[in-house]
Amino acid sequence: MLKRIGVLLSGRGSNFEALADSVSAGRIPNAEIAVVISNKPGAPGLERAAARNIPARAIPSKGLERETYDRQVAAVLHEYKVDLICLAGYMRLLSPFFVAAFPQRILNIHPSLLPSFPGLESQKQALDYGVKFAGCTVHFVDENLDAGPIILQSAVPVLDTDDEHTLSQRILKDEHRIPSRKNHLGRELQNRRPPRDFRTYVILLRQ
Ligand code: GRF
Repeated sequence: MLKRIGVLLSGRGSNFEALADSVSAGRIPNAEIAVVISNKPGAPGLERAAARNIPARAIPSKGLERETYDRQVAAVLHEYKVDLICLAGYMRLLSPFFVAAFPQRILNIHPSLLPSFPGLESQKQALDYGVKFAGCTVHFVDENLDAGPIILQSAVPVLDTDDEHTLSQRILKDEHRIPSRKNHLGRELQNRRPPRDFRTYVILLRQ
């Protein structure tokens, strides 16, 4: 039986595309993307999903209380019999209701080496702080912002010449490569459980 992935996004959806490419190429075996949902009706990620013949649903969040909204999203994910949820640029904090509805089955990708720089503009936060390495993190999601057991990380150098754009681009390249790490992410996707001992896998992609 194929594991069914539900993707939640709010924007352009490049991480969704990387995930979809890895699924179609078999780098994440025995999986399919069952549905893509956006809280922003105009999100380009929805068009990208539709272009791949993946069901794409807009569920506008504007004006709705967090849990009321999350109940609508959970209902659609249940309708599509989703086994696992990937947040791919989903710009909303999840309610405790939602997290409890899918225990240890929600993954997020965040453009920093968590627990440093959670929240918005993490690349700018990294530059402002002056760190010499930045990167991205895939983690299981709990009800706190950009928190939960870490599954994968990828580190990139911060160059003296970097601005927010150049650093974001370097990190994004690794974000897109992470779903290809089938021996790691693929395994977590299949097992739907955190890695043993919640161990952090530090993936130095360049070595
Ligand atoms: C990515 O940097 C992701 O890590 C962050 O939001 C951005 C979304 O980009 N959470 P995209 O919509 O996947 O292109």
